[in-house]
Amino acid sequence: MTAAFDLDLAKVLTRERHKIHLVGVAGSGMSGLAALLLELGHEVSGSDKISTQETTRLQRLGLHFHGQHRSEDAAAADLVIFSSAIKTDNPVLASARDTGKPMLRRAEALAAIMGAKRGILIAGMHGKTTTSAMTAHVLREGGLHPSHYVGAEIPILGTNAHWDARGDYFVAEGDESDGTIACFHPEHALILNIEEEHLDFYADLAAIEKVFAALIAQTSGTVFYSADDLNVTHTCRSCKRGISYGFSDKADYRGVDIKLKDFSSAFSVFHRDERLGEALLNVPGQHNVHNALGVIALATELGVPFDKIAASLRKFQHARRRFEIKYASERFLLVDDYAHHPTEIRATLTTAKSIGRKRILTMFQPHRYSRTTALRKQFGLAFDDADCVVVTDVYGSNEAPVPGVTGQIIADEIVAHGHRGVSYQPRLEWVHRNVGNMLDSGDLVLSLGAGNIHEQLSILAADLVVAEKMKEIVGEEGDLRLYEPLSKHTTLRVGGPAQFWVEPRTEKAFAELIRFCRRENLALFVIGRGSNLLVRDGGIGGVVVHPCGGDFDKIDIDGDKITAGVGAKLKEIAYAGRTAGIGGLEWMEGIPGAVGGGLRMNAGAMGAQTFENVVRVRYLDAEGNPYTKNRDELDVRYRNFPLLEKNFAVSATFRGHAAMRDEIERRLGESQDKRRTSQPIAKSAGCIFKNTDSIPAGKLVDELGLKNARVGKARVSEVHGNFIVNDGGATAAEMLELIEKIKGAAREKRGIELETEVQIVGEPG
Ligand code: EPU
Repeated sequence: MTAAFDLDLAKVLTRERHKIHLVGVAGSGMSGLAALLLELGHEVSGSDKISTQETTRLQRLGLHFHGQHRSEDAAAADLVIFSSAIKTDNPVLASARDTGKPMLRRAEALAAIMGAKRGILIAGMHGKTTTSAMTAHVLREGGLHPSHYVGAEIPILGTNAHWDARGDYFVAEGDESDGTIACFHPEHALILNIEEEHLDFYADLAAIEKVFAALIAQTSGTVFYSADDLNVTHTCRSCKRGISYGFSDKADYRGVDIKLKDFSSAFSVFHRDERLGEALLNVPGQHNVHNALGVIALATELGVPFDKIAASLRKFQHARRRFEIKYASERFLLVDDYAHHPTEIRATLTTAKSIGRKRILTMFQPHRYSRTTALRKQFGLAFDDADCVVVTDVYGSNEAPVPGVTGQIIADEIVAHGHRGVSYQPRLEWVHRNVGNMLDSGDLVLSLGAGNIHEQLSILAADLVVAEKMKEIVGEEGDLRLYEPLSKHTTLRVGGPAQFWVEPRTEKAFAELIRFCRRENLALFVIGRGSNLLVRDGGIGGVVVHPCGGDFDKIDIDGDKITAGVGAKLKEIAYAGRTAGIGGLEWMEGIPGAVGGGLRMNAGAMGAQTFENVVRVRYLDAEGNPYTKNRDELDVRYRNFPLLEKNFAVSATFRGHAAMRDEIERRLGESQDKRRTSQPIAKSAGCIFKNTDSIPAGKLVDELGLKNARVGKARVSEVHGNFIVNDGGATAAEMLELIEKIKGAAREKRGIELETEVQIVGEPG
């Protein structure tokens, strides 16, 4: 597809000034090329359907960016460079072709730029970015002023690509994925490893080895190659100027006495029989020691003294997304890695395991449909070192979806291999929830993949910062969980997750939580036993406080008064009354909720209601200040106690009256009988609607003939018309649809406006 271009490309690109347009400029390789061309003084424009942080940075440096591909974009350009990801019918490419403009593939342009200097190409399937960044860094520290081109953001190098007019060398990461690696004619090459990859492009391993053999033949100086990789040694066997490195006894440059620590490694380096010295690498993993040995071999041969090499290796930091620590605390470690090939995944997991945390939880996003299909078996074997794996759907990159090729097939392979902690979550935006909800102190969480899975880890990291602060507030005795499914905490058994689920055990911790949420601008919602609650499927954003245990479950008896924390069940108050000979509280046996909910809703049963027994309420205001108010100071309504809309109950004192035990037993029995005979035992939220002045809601629903009416797994109970039951696996959406159906029927047929008694909260799914 490249138009004839008889010019001296190296001269055109590095010694002249032109108008150059890049198609697909937002790609990681293309943006580096744009940066080089800008530094070389060209007028650079580029088009892409997405913009990134990198395109924004390049715009500041002078890039004319077009946010879509339009045929006229390259009209003024002298030369058009395009990425391999760009399809041939791209409008910019098509018009450049029609107008006979010179066109170059990315690798051809890069190879030409390299041709203007003494090129060093880093090639292989895994570790290229890290190794090319390490090479550029070591040569830079060695005073050689190298130019570089690396396929990712490299904090220690400042940018992913840089042209340094002062130096002779140009270090570049070669991309073997599309065969264009054969465009390069470097002076030196560093070959890391060769194995089956990119089988969308190559027929087999032999085809891959052929491309590498061509590169080696085109290398004018030295080929540095791994002595530990059979495919590499096989490909390099006839190489005239070869220098090997690695762990093998046969390697020219050898690493021995390797000591792997959590985030660093120490090792001794030998050149044949000569001991060069000790190296310390501040990035983890045996595979990085191996990469560093290649860099040491190359830098030594270029004349950098070993002590300089060792000093710069000590300073080297990772490229972005290469075992990048996103969050670290005593309790948790969150790491992101670009690994997307089974070999890389295994190496990254080995490194993660060596860190010695309790468990490793991974989120994995397969990359490309072609790789998913070709290497599915190998993927199945790659996760042995992970305690838990959540696989999400395939990140297609520039490939069109292939029917039947989803993350499920990888999850199935891992399961087939005997792994017991695997699940498939097709919704990428929910992956952080699945992993976050499993978190336990001592866990290392790893995001793996070359797509956008790292965004899920970033969300988890941001939430964990907040969660850890709240954990400090509730202390060891309290509990805190991320993304806790509220279906576990509501009697109806529906509802999405709480972003932060917090269980304080003391009034002091509760007050501090209130103040924290206010300071951090976090929504706070209190949930008791969840017996009168319908949480929507999207769950509740912000903090959900569940006061239970400790101060909140206490029940104290004093004469005819019972003081109970908001977490105590109303039933337990009725039973405590029986033990202490206090009557008048038996009706509470019929309410499934706890004191907090009972107060908030002024719950009732058997013709009685909560505030008929309440004499005092203790609560915290919106600033966390405590108050105690007597009954006569409180405004209470039917099924509503408005004070608790903005304040938070802590405890309440109920008054009964002295009664004989037999009498109490009899009334408790009545309540139980009433429940057993008139209410369903299935999962429900108690009565859904408030009774109306004209008719009890249950009777109305019954008369409307709606018993057993259903939407999905939500069904009106056949026992009581004011109960909707969950037949197993119902969603909040189904519940809400059924509620609307009943309200509609009541309005149309009887002119009655039903109001829900159950509280409906949260976001739609
Ligand atoms: N009825 C019917 N068909 C039905 C249901 C009820 O005809 O399907 C009739 C009953 O026969 C009765 C009248 O409707 O004549 C009222 O029914 P019920 O006695 O069962 O009382 P309710 O008003 O429906 C209230 C509370 C319940 C509490 C019971 C028992 C409300 C909204 N509900 O129910 O509280 O358990 O009394 O004391 O006040 C709750 O609030 O969640 C709850 C379960």
